[in-house]
Amino acid sequence: MHSGLACLLGLTSLALTNALSLEKKDSPAVLTVPLVRDTSRQLSKRSKTADLGLDNEDVSYISYVANMTFGTPPQHFLAYLNTWGNGCWLHGVEDSPCELYLNRSLCGGYGGYNLSASTTAKKLDERFVYDDSGSMVGGDVVTDVLKIAGVKVDVMKMGIAMDSGITSNHLGLGYGNASSTSLTQALADAGVISSPAFSLWGQTALFGGVNKAKYNGSLHTFPIVNGSNLTKAFRINMDGISINETSAASKEFPLDAVFDTALGMTYVPKSVAQALNAQIGNTSVPDEWGQVNFSCSSMSLESTVEFKFGDLEFKFFLGQFVSQEPHTAPDYGWYPDRATCYFTILENLHYRSEGSIVLGSTFMSNAYTVFDLENDEISLARLDYGSPTPDDIVEIKSGKNAVPDAKDAVPDAKDAVPDAKDAVPDAKKDSAGSHIGVALGMSALVVGAAGLTLIS
Ligand SMILES: *[C@@H]1O[C@H](CO)[C@@H](O)[C@H](O)[C@H]1NC(C)=O
Ligand SMILES: *[C@@H]1O[C@H](CO)[C@@H](O)[C@H](O)[C@H]1NC(C)=O
Ligand SMILES: *[C@@H]1O[C@H](CO)[C@@H](O)[C@H](O)[C@H]1NC(C)=O
Ligand SMILES: *[C@@H]1O[C@H](CO)[C@@H](O)[C@H](O)[C@H]1NC(C)=O
Ligand SMILES: *[C@@H]1O[C@H](CO)[C@@H](O)[C@H](O)[C@H]1NC(C)=O
Ligand SMILES: *[C@@H]1O[C@H](CO)[C@@H](O)[C@H](O)[C@H]1NC(C)=O
Ligand SMILES: *[C@@H]1O[C@H](CO)[C@@H](O)[C@H](O)[C@H]1NC(C)=O
Ligand SMILES: *[C@@H]1O[C@H](CO)[C@@H](O)[C@H](O)[C@H]1NC(C)=O
Ligand SMILES: *[C@@H]1O[C@H](CO)[C@@H](O)[C@H](O)[C@H]1NC(C)=O
Ligand SMILES: *[C@@H]1O[C@H](CO)[C@@H](O)[C@H](O)[C@H]1NC(C)=O
Repeated sequence: MHSGLACLLGLTSLALTNALSLEKKDSPAVLTVPLVRDTSRQLSKRSKTADLGLDNEDVSYISYVANMTFGTPPQHFLAYLNTWGNGCWLHGVEDSPCELYLNRSLCGGYGGYNLSASTTAKKLDERFVYDDSGSMVGGDVVTDVLKIAGVKVDVMKMGIAMDSGITSNHLGLGYGNASSTSLTQALADAGVISSPAFSLWGQTALFGGVNKAKYNGSLHTFPIVNGSNLTKAFRINMDGISINETSAASKEFPLDAVFDTALGMTYVPKSVAQALNAQIGNTSVPDEWGQVNFSCSSMSLESTVEFKFGDLEFKFFLGQFVSQEPHTAPDYGWYPDRATCYFTILENLHYRSEGSIVLGSTFMSNAYTVFDLENDEISLARLDYGSPTPDDIVEIKSGKNAVPDAKDAVPDAKDAVPDAKDAVPDAKKDSAGSHIGVALGMSALVVGAAGLTLIS
């Protein structure tokens, strides 16, 4: 499947650090997929006093939705790019939710697939049944031609949902299994990218590569962990969360944290949620979803929240994790004129099957993330909010570490050999459990009525 030479080269340079193997090429084998707005969600109420003259809506609102086609002639769809999911499915045009729409094939703006209208469709002798966070989705399995961002996958396996509950067209980016293939793996298998890996930042998914112009400092690489008894997913250890640098329930950490673009908010264990709420002060009792509210006027604009992974710390304004509406991610920023604020870091009552901590789009849209399925690693970096710099795209090469257990064998390599990280200029390895309190230069972003404000 992958070139043995690339593999060998990857091994050599990675022996010490087991970090991402990046290669600069004239025409890197990468695929940039621009994310589009999920119009169905742009219905949130906005404050009358919000400054509508600024483009804060556009810049603050990340929605992990891609434009794609399936079939010949191409049928158009919008689909969620889902880091939690394994498989891919589309509404069938006969699916009951599509019946609600006058033009069924538009199926609420997302599109319903009509197998009989495609000359390249093949229905497989297989059924798909998928537990989409509690609501079951099922139907036929077909293969057909998928096109996304100008590339073509000739034989893409896709579930076609029939009688589904509430679901959306869904392109899983994660680990496939015996019955399903993720988009990431399909792109690698089709030779579009060299290795099943992708980066996410802002309104962009970059398959097969890393855009070094979009983050500050270095990428920090963490091994995928299992959690206890959980299905393999994009899950790493997290070493702490704090408000104003005061740790919440520090004894509970490290905890496994999973990345889920399909959820907006951040979910943490009860003890952690309670500790955070206590720091905010004067919060209500949690509602049935674990969310608390508080008086907006009691929140200081200066308050910060920190997420720690090894020696990487993300520092944000607390306001970025506060919403004006219950149970929704803070899409449009924080308007201090509102009476009631809702904290969007809440007790994980409903997603424990995903992980102890679930990091939804509010967190993810404020970080540069790289998911490497072949090496079972996730790399993180701080987004560069500075003025736009030209793209610097490098390819993520295929290949495993020379020493399969290197990450366990040399957990302290970067401390023992201070220059080890220079062997791989673009990334460095963090031992997930370490608590090195390095104060890194940090920056944060305020999303508010005044648009984006950079502080440092
Ligand atoms: C998706 O692509 C189609 C065809 O190129 C285009 O007409 C449509 O506006 C796009 N949708 C969004 C939400 O960008
Ligand atoms: C329904 O929408 C599709 C896709 O935009 C279009 O091709 C088709 O003509 C529409 N059908 C009707 C009956 O409006
Ligand atoms: C599906 O496509 C076939 C063939 O083009 C067409 O006859 C049929 O009406 C379509 N079904 C729906 C529900 O649009
Ligand atoms: C594959 O993964 C999906 C989603 O996690 C799951 O519903 C399905 O049962 C799995 N299939 C197999 C064969 O493990
Ligand atoms: C994770 O779980 C899988 C299956 O339950 C198991 O095979 C694997 O060894 C586990 N890996 C680790 C690192 O615990
Ligand atoms: C782990 O999985 C086993 C088998 O599926 C189950 O019996 C056990 O209760 C699970 N443990 C936890 C902590 O969920
Ligand atoms: C705040 O939370 C409490 C407890 O869940 C709830 O009773 C109350 O209605 C909430 N207030 C607002 C304005 O949503
Ligand atoms: C505490 O919160 C409640 C409900 O959110 C609010 O009515 C009250 O004014 C707040 N008290 C202070 C001192 O902020
Ligand atoms: C965090 O610190 C700022 C001053 O730096 C202060 O105004 C704010 O009240 C503090 N927030 C909390 C929740 O302690
Ligand atoms: C990122 O780094 C550049 C160069 O070191 C610096 O100018 C810029 O302010 C930094 N941006 C942030 C958001 O820290």
